[in-house]
Amino acid sequence: MKGIILAGGSGTRLHPITRAVSKQLLPIYDKPMIYYPLSTLMLAGLREILLITTPHDQDAFRRLLGDGSQLGIQITYVVQDQPNGLAEALILGEEFLAGDRCALILGDNLFYGPGLGTHLETNTFIDGALIFAYQVSDPSHYGVVEFDDTGQVLSIEEKPPKPKSSYAVPGIYFYDSKASELARALTPSSRGELEITALNNAYLERGQLRVEVLSRATTWLDTGTHESLYEAGGLIRTLQHRTGLRIGDVEQIGSDQGWVTPSDATEKTESSASGSA
Ligand code: G1P
Repeated sequence: MKGIILAGGSGTRLHPITRAVSKQLLPIYDKPMIYYPLSTLMLAGLREILLITTPHDQDAFRRLLGDGSQLGIQITYVVQDQPNGLAEALILGEEFLAGDRCALILGDNLFYGPGLGTHLETNTFIDGALIFAYQVSDPSHYGVVEFDDTGQVLSIEEKPPKPKSSYAVPGIYFYDSKASELARALTPSSRGELEITALNNAYLERGQLRVEVLSRATTWLDTGTHESLYEAGGLIRTLQHRTGLRIGDVEQIGSDQGWVTPSDATEKTESSASGSA
């Protein structure tokens, strides 16, 4: 399985901050936002990562992450020319995937929970699609899952004004090798985008969508608004101070996974920061 991080978009909800800087490079306390979704993929054991950015932001991401070798991973870059929707990531990633399964994560989604990485790792041999559901107080801002009394999924609706449940779909999705083909067959929504919800519904119609309710022990934050950005920074600060552990520290994860030695990570990070890598 390969990983895709979608870090495109114009971040309009965060203007004026994101007029000149990519949303996914903004700080969440002491790290750039992109570190957190990247760390989720790394904890799931994924080492081949495609990073999708806007054309003008790609250089900044390359300065930050390079080819990923300092973390023991391989990062490939591709641009999304226009914000054509999240499902376009599967089309832009088709060549990179070369028929493999993938985990797609949104560059502004932050997950934190005990054993989450190892739990996600068990899904890397999926047939069909696996998405998650997470109880939130404001479901109408998200994709929303409707369940029947037996827990079967009836529908997924994108940002419904009258949500049929309080279960939102977090921005991490596992797909089998059919995802690119199914994404290409989608028609754009009324806002002109290839919606990830439409792709998930395509799997649902084929009887190949599994929805797993994420435990409340897992924290999921989407950091695309001023409020949520501020809250996420506070949460990471509190958790790190209290436990002395670091969250979303990709250098440390690369070394904990045994992919690089700690000195490799420091040396390569320092030489890339000084511009010599
Ligand atoms: C996107 C998806 C939505 C999902 C959300 C998770 O919305 O369209 O289905 O629930 O990400 O963060 P966005 O926040 O990009 O508008």
